Amino acid sequence: MDVVVAGQGYVGLPLAVRAAEVGHRVVGYDVDLNRIKQLSAGESYVQDVASERLRAVLESGAYTATADPADLDGFDLAAITVPTPLRDGVPDLSYVESCARTLGSRLRPGATVVLESTTYPGTTEEILLPLLEQASDLKRGVDFGAGFSPERIAPGNKRWSFEGTPKLVSGIDDKSLNTIKAFYDTIFQTTVPVSGPKVAEMAKLIENVFRFVNISLVNELAMLAKPLGVDIWEAIDAAATKPFGFTRFTPGPGVGGHCLPIDPLFLAWKVKQELGVPFRFVELADDVNRHMPDYVVQRLTEALDQRHLPVEGARILLLGMTYKINATDLRESPSARVAELLIRLGADVRGADPNVQPGDATRVNVPLVDATPLEIAAADAVVLLMDHARFDLPMIEKNAPYVLDCRNRLSGPNVETL
Ligand SMILES: NC(=O)c1ccc[n+]([C@@H]2O[C@H](COP(=O)([O-])OP(=O)(O)OC[C@H]3O[C@@H](n4cnc5c(N)ncnc54)[C@H](O)[C@@H]3O)[C@@H](O)[C@H]2O)c1
Repeated sequence: MDVVVAGQGYVGLPLAVRAAEVGHRVVGYDVDLNRIKQLSAGESYVQDVASERLRAVLESGAYTATADPADLDGFDLAAITVPTPLRDGVPDLSYVESCARTLGSRLRPGATVVLESTTYPGTTEEILLPLLEQASDLKRGVDFGAGFSPERIAPGNKRWSFEGTPKLVSGIDDKSLNTIKAFYDTIFQTTVPVSGPKVAEMAKLIENVFRFVNISLVNELAMLAKPLGVDIWEAIDAAATKPFGFTRFTPGPGVGGHCLPIDPLFLAWKVKQELGVPFRFVELADDVNRHMPDYVVQRLTEALDQRHLPVEGARILLLGMTYKINATDLRESPSARVAELLIRLGADVRGADPNVQPGDATRVNVPLVDATPLEIAAADAVVLLMDHARFDLPMIEKNAPYVLDCRNRLSGPNVETL
């Protein structure tokens, strides 16, 4: 198939490269010229796509990267993987809209467009399709097909690979569904058809709301268990021995990334907009998760207090600045919020994270240092925010005068868990 993948980010690049590897002719389209230059030079900026793989598909001619809409002409299937951020609590679909106009102007009869960006139920039919029709002067279901297929990519996840994670597929009619399913069948080991785009859109949000709410639940439990004198980590592990009806989630300093802090609020916005009622679970979970960095700082302040150290002027080393374990992604990381709060209190804050890419160092608002024994011993307090595999945990236990361990990975007399 002649395939366009619009948006060459965390979602679009792995899809485009994999599609090229399995034999499609793929055009990776992005409006970011720097990204296109990097891709054309064979340099991947996405963790799960090695530059060697990118170079192989560039050299075979199966993949080209472009910022020129003229290169999109004649596609059989286009997948849209552009950002869907939230601005002041309101979904920003401007990227989807502008991409729809671009693809619409290049749409030819018989082609199919599939939206992958996470969004609220109704987007494909209410937003994408009218724009494609307007820009192309073609009619949905008659001249062209469309559908929604959410991405479940979990960057850095070694257990669930891109192609091994089942893929939901939907279409606006049977023909669209068949085309979309046939395309994804060449890429994913399992595709799961559902009855229409709204179900697929909702399914993706249910997945993220489920995680969001459950994480907030254990976060609140952690804050309550401490004064009750209960070790929440041991209690969660004990509960998780039940072989049915329980899913293990663990507390942490908050949620980050492009998905979890944002997607549930897409659904809450739609519910409020359309039904005029709040989505109470999501609002409550958001409130709890958002306040976890404050709780981390409160615990740290109390611990310093016990050592007769004021937080003002204290040297604090934050370990793990990315939002996810072993990942390079800094977006919406709660570590940044913890750093900000401590800086506001006058602490001398440094960060250490072996996964932060050199080009991203300025996005971390604290000086980045290596987690060496000297650096750890010199800190008044160390906070383990993310337990990356590359951290030497026994060395941290040995050298840190005090650690607030937000991941329950350390032990010893100087360690307290969240
Ligand atoms: N990152 C994840 O782990 C993940 C997982 C599942 C779903 N998603 C969803 O997938 C979508 C994309 O996320 P991402 O993480 O890949 O974002 P990203 O920011 O990494 O990449 C998006 C790319 O789209 C480009 N773009 C913006 N407007 C464009 C346009 N009009 N035409 C072409 N390209 C355009 C941007 O320049 C950027 O390179 C979002 O809706 C996100 O919620 C992300």
